[in-house]
Amino acid sequence: MSADRTTLLILGASGDLTSRLLLPGIATLLRAQPRRSLEIVGADLRDLGDDEWRARVATAMDAAGERGATAQHVVDTTRYVAGDATDPASLRALLESVECDRLVLYFALPPAVSRMVCEALAEVGAPEGTILAIEKPFGSSLEDARELNALVQRIVPEDQIFRIDHFLGLYTVLNLLGMRFANRILAPLWDRDSIEKVEILYDESVALEGRAGYYDKAGALRDMIQSHLLQVLALVAIEPPASIDARDLRDAIGQVLRAARVDDPVKDARRARYTAGAIGEREVPDYAGEEGVDPARRTETLAEVTVHVDNQRWAGVPFVLRSGKALGPIRKQAIVHFREPSFVPRGFGGRNSADRLVLDFRPDSFAIHLTTNGKGDPFTLEQSVLRGELGGGQLEPYGEVLASILDGDPRLAVRADAAEECWRIVEPVLEAWAAKDAPLAEYRAGSSGPRGWRTNG
Ligand code: BG6
Repeated sequence: MSADRTTLLILGASGDLTSRLLLPGIATLLRAQPRRSLEIVGADLRDLGDDEWRARVATAMDAAGERGATAQHVVDTTRYVAGDATDPASLRALLESVECDRLVLYFALPPAVSRMVCEALAEVGAPEGTILAIEKPFGSSLEDARELNALVQRIVPEDQIFRIDHFLGLYTVLNLLGMRFANRILAPLWDRDSIEKVEILYDESVALEGRAGYYDKAGALRDMIQSHLLQVLALVAIEPPASIDARDLRDAIGQVLRAARVDDPVKDARRARYTAGAIGEREVPDYAGEEGVDPARRTETLAEVTVHVDNQRWAGVPFVLRSGKALGPIRKQAIVHFREPSFVPRGFGGRNSADRLVLDFRPDSFAIHLTTNGKGDPFTLEQSVLRGELGGGQLEPYGEVLASILDGDPRLAVRADAAEECWRIVEPVLEAWAAKDAPLAEYRAGSSGPRGWRTNG
């Protein structure tokens, strides 16, 4: 934890992301780590005014529970600056108005605006040691991400660039490291000889929730798979790093992502869009009819892609990545399916189902489904389930990621090469889908997806 005076300068402070995620994340962080020294400055084109801004910060602090001295200090000292950060002169004035030991410049802005701010910042120059925290999506294609990387690397060195992916702050994701590399049970089984398939699923019940402006141009593949789920894949599949410091860890992530590819973008990817339905009591309108949606864009709200990792450990093992919105059953899991044993003595009754490790995201826990003699007839095979909790820490994933940004620890941020690789992996699918000949299936909101789509997790 840093004792330096850190200022978090939020660009896009009047926006939805700041109120919905960033301020609550800061609030839970300050509740858990009250000795942090932090000041917050909000900035945006829209003039919110100091009072309204302070009220928003105070609301977030109150919603997080207690109002400790640090949280109170944050509320008392926070201020708001109206201005156009894409304009070099106003950006310079904004930066000059901030005095601190460490400046964190947080881009809570749409990608196109973030880029314009970066262009202005490259011209103006950032104060020594400035950290840039940039929200996803990082770029809109491989080429775009490369250009953006080149631009931000002109402003500050790579280890001061924090490309945010809050899934790297999920306890289950973080626990992959200990689970894989710090015990003798799983490590020897973690390869193609023992593992048949890996599924990484994030099926949500939330629908569009007024985010058409962003989501209709992104879709499930860009929104979830290109970023979050590929990061999870990376941690499931990485080679053991020599240490878990930022360099070793991120080298290993870069290496495994470089080995990942989609074999056949037509056969190995599918997409669908939800129609009107109900999730419990909640009526969900047809996606295509939602305000701000252009149905001709054929944006998918459910995407599934099979990725292969071309290396000795994983050759031939499919990694199925799927995420969708407005689904009835919520499944947020990584499932490692083990192969069936090569031999089971004759004479057992029951079914020898394949064993699996299920890692649950939110709440974070795991379960090992293991074939045993079972509770009943001792000669009848059954599956026993061993469960364990993961995490249970006080910080939400956003809080974890924010803590690492404020501490200047880039471990939970996406490095330039990984950001580009993630685009490279999905780009063939995006191209195939843009050609419009790939089918777009439909599913009723509240259902488990289009008929015939169920995976065997
Ligand atoms: C965001 C996506 O990055 O992650 C959302 O833009 C998605 O569409 C969300 O719902 C899922 O993460 P969480 O932490 O809200 O479950």
